[in-house]
Amino acid sequence: MTKINSLTGMPDLHDSEDKKSFSSKLFTVEKKLKKIFTNFNFKEIRTPMLEDADLFLRSVGSTSDIVNKEIYSFNDRNNKAIALRPEGTASVIRSIVERKLENSTHKLWYLGPMWRYERPQKGRYRQFNQAGIEILGLPEGLPEFEIISLVCSIIQELNIKNCIIKINHLGSPDEKEKFSKALVSYLKEYEHMLDEKDKLRLRNNPLRVLDTKNLNTQKILKEAPSIRDFIDDASLLLLKKIKSQFSDICKIDIDHSLVRGLDYYSGFVFEAISFDLGAQDSFLGGGRYDQLSSQLGGKEMPSIGFAVGLERLSEIVDVEEDTKIKISFIIATSNLEENAYKIAHQIRRLNDQVVLDCYLKEGSLKSKLRKAHKNNSDYAIIVGEEELENNTVIIKSLQDESTNQKVMPVDQLDSFFQDL
Ligand code: HAM
Repeated sequence: MTKINSLTGMPDLHDSEDKKSFSSKLFTVEKKLKKIFTNFNFKEIRTPMLEDADLFLRSVGSTSDIVNKEIYSFNDRNNKAIALRPEGTASVIRSIVERKLENSTHKLWYLGPMWRYERPQKGRYRQFNQAGIEILGLPEGLPEFEIISLVCSIIQELNIKNCIIKINHLGSPDEKEKFSKALVSYLKEYEHMLDEKDKLRLRNNPLRVLDTKNLNTQKILKEAPSIRDFIDDASLLLLKKIKSQFSDICKIDIDHSLVRGLDYYSGFVFEAISFDLGAQDSFLGGGRYDQLSSQLGGKEMPSIGFAVGLERLSEIVDVEEDTKIKISFIIATSNLEENAYKIAHQIRRLNDQVVLDCYLKEGSLKSKLRKAHKNNSDYAIIVGEEELENNTVIIKSLQDESTNQKVMPVDQLDSFFQDL
């Protein structure tokens, strides 16, 4: 029989004892992010992975790369166009509008897989995991500070070095439109010098030309109009204030060429870039999207948010999982395995600082102890006939061989672990 492999760009994630492995880091990052979000008092929202395909056309934008060529969509049995979500923001707003909750404020977080049909390469997958947050119902002002404070907390908590947060302001929709027109009329003169990709962007989504990787276009853009000349003083002041508030915590740069790949943004936008990531160097991105709710048929609801890619984070973080006491539970007498399991059950319920690994295979005491060492356990708890009869265990340190093993009543184990 031929083997069936996973789809291109859709890797399996598999936790292991090696906490420095890519998958293990990703799971650790996931736990840490959830903790940070809840510490900022954000509430979880889980939206479906499948949505009406129109949702992304009307939000992410029909001229964006995502909708143009990256969306995974198909017709269901009823001939309805369905899409696998390429991002989380559109679904969150759809959910709030659908439940008529636009009049309240919300601080929400989500985490899960997203799909984009991109050319896979380092840091770019077709199925990847995003964690995102959205602050809904609040206009420009303090939410911008809360958001950048959260981004800085992620960078600090996950020990990310060599990174920078780029911030920009795209103005009101009107200002953005005026800038876009000025950019088009400037670039039209050089259209014959642009490559096919930039020509297409100029026609469909001119601001995206600012994102070009083409060195010639970059030269042409040096003299191009800047958004800086189209936004008002309050917007410029916001950028300066954010930079000065957070600059001693994270490196922040005002970059007027920063535009985002999704159409729904106006106002404050930002990206976090790592110098250790290679071509796909942006690991977090977001901004304000005050018009999205009304574009999706809801009431006006000013909003701001960001998402961070877990795969890209896993490449650059330096994190350890919170330390727990790791115990290998060893049943010394083979015919007692089933009876002794009850003790394992009791130990597992003691406290959540204890991770207990129970051997599910028969074997000699020696081979079980060898395995316990290999798994890097802190302690072995050994139960034999005598211990079982007296409701005691033998506890043996595996990290400090100089301490003697001791016999202990099961009901004293809790205080023993708490005192460690
Ligand atoms: P985005 O910039 O498209 O924004 O994606 C956010 C993050 O997802 C990126 O910075 C990157 O880390 C990760 N990412 C994107 N595509 C891939 C891929 N193919 N493979 C691996 N990682 C990837 C959004 O999605 C917006 N919804 C963010 C937002 C929330 N804006 C407002 N609220």
